[in-house]
Amino acid sequence: MWKGRFQESTAEAVQRLGESVSFDHRLFRQDVRGSIAHARAQQRAGMLTAGELEQIEQGLKAIEADIAAGDFEFRTDLEDVHMNIEAELTRRIGDAGAKLHAARSRNDQVATDTRLYCRDVIDLQLIPGIEGLQRSLVRQGRRHARVVLPGYTHLQRAQPVLLAHHLLAYVEMLSRDIGRLRDCRGRLNVCPLGSGALAGSTINLDREAVAAELGFDGVTRNSMDAVSDRDYIAELLFALALTGMHLSRLSEDLILWSSSEFSFVVLSDAHTTGSSLMPQKKNPDVAELTRGKSGRLLGNLVALLTLIKGLPMTYNRDLQEDKEPLFDSIDTLDLVLAVFADMIDGMEVRGQAMTRAAADPMLLATDLADRLVRNGVPFRQAHEFVGKLVAESVSSGTPLNRLPQEVYDLVSDRFGPGVREVFDVERALEARTNPGSPGFDCVLKELERWTLELKLG
Ligand code: ARG
Repeated sequence: MWKGRFQESTAEAVQRLGESVSFDHRLFRQDVRGSIAHARAQQRAGMLTAGELEQIEQGLKAIEADIAAGDFEFRTDLEDVHMNIEAELTRRIGDAGAKLHAARSRNDQVATDTRLYCRDVIDLQLIPGIEGLQRSLVRQGRRHARVVLPGYTHLQRAQPVLLAHHLLAYVEMLSRDIGRLRDCRGRLNVCPLGSGALAGSTINLDREAVAAELGFDGVTRNSMDAVSDRDYIAELLFALALTGMHLSRLSEDLILWSSSEFSFVVLSDAHTTGSSLMPQKKNPDVAELTRGKSGRLLGNLVALLTLIKGLPMTYNRDLQEDKEPLFDSIDTLDLVLAVFADMIDGMEVRGQAMTRAAADPMLLATDLADRLVRNGVPFRQAHEFVGKLVAESVSSGTPLNRLPQEVYDLVSDRFGPGVREVFDVERALEARTNPGSPGFDCVLKELERWTLELKLG
């Protein structure tokens, strides 16, 4: 259909190369929504009778229902979702359907559909999915609100922190991820319809009205930019790649924590797998796959940027390649977020093992130096004094908190009597009262704040 200047249809292999309906069919709801808004504008401009508009609306809704029910056969010779729906509409209702494409091109149509789609996915899948994981993390934090474990730098035990503090670190990252999605949504929510192929149209429909009807905040301001801009997809893919990277780091923590070497957590049977060879194995596959999936999330971003970078103005068919990375990143993250939230909820925390690891008195060497500072010793000297005690502890094999008071006094008279009280971990955490620190009070407040924010009740 619609052959125009072409005498022959495209070769079969070319059709296979050029078709996008096998993946862009998922834009069908947005395509129908956009077409109805466009038809209404046409009717207001006197291009359609009320009866024709009625036919178009009913026809499009029936097609949408058929597609949703799986009763629609997409034809690859019709290339994409837009042509499939329009052709079927015309087949069903005749001339009225053939009027729909006036003052519109697939170039502004696909840009509109994709923006609507990104908006829907951000609102209905991605933000709720991330919040779901945040809730799981906060729930675990609350369940184990007083559990202490070593905080690490360079993967070496550094200082004691609360488990909840560690988990809330990820809640913070995820909340920035949500912020980025909201920013992206704010920028993408403008309507390209009316931009035509690249140069607008001599038929001037009311763009503002169409935009408002579709829930856009306004209209795009330059028709050439509007049909070739895919920044919003790049932004979304970046936001998703970054979320994937955060989940990958969390995965890495869980992989370490569930190893025999750490034994800090036990992942549920539902979220681990056995080995076909080694009967004793319980592998953290979900975490490993999540870490692995971050590769493709990054890859999709790079694929899109590479795809766009050499394109002259304006629309080029290359842009059709924007959708598979977009859909893949959305599907990947959607799945990972759901599985991950479940895994966190079902994870057994071995609080005693964590506390035992955090009881290493070396972790409070800095607090010991702080004590000297409070007693008037310049920090650099204090650091050196404590360093001497650490060396003595290592060489004598006596834990730092067991070195006799005399040894302390020999190094510096400023440690004062009862110096070993420093090694009380609870006390050390109580002393950390500054906002953002891992002290009991601060962390409790943060848990409460997130409980409210995430409506955990
Ligand atoms: N399927 C196309 C895409 O995704 C729709 C736009 C086609 N426009 C064109 N002039 N061939 O980009």
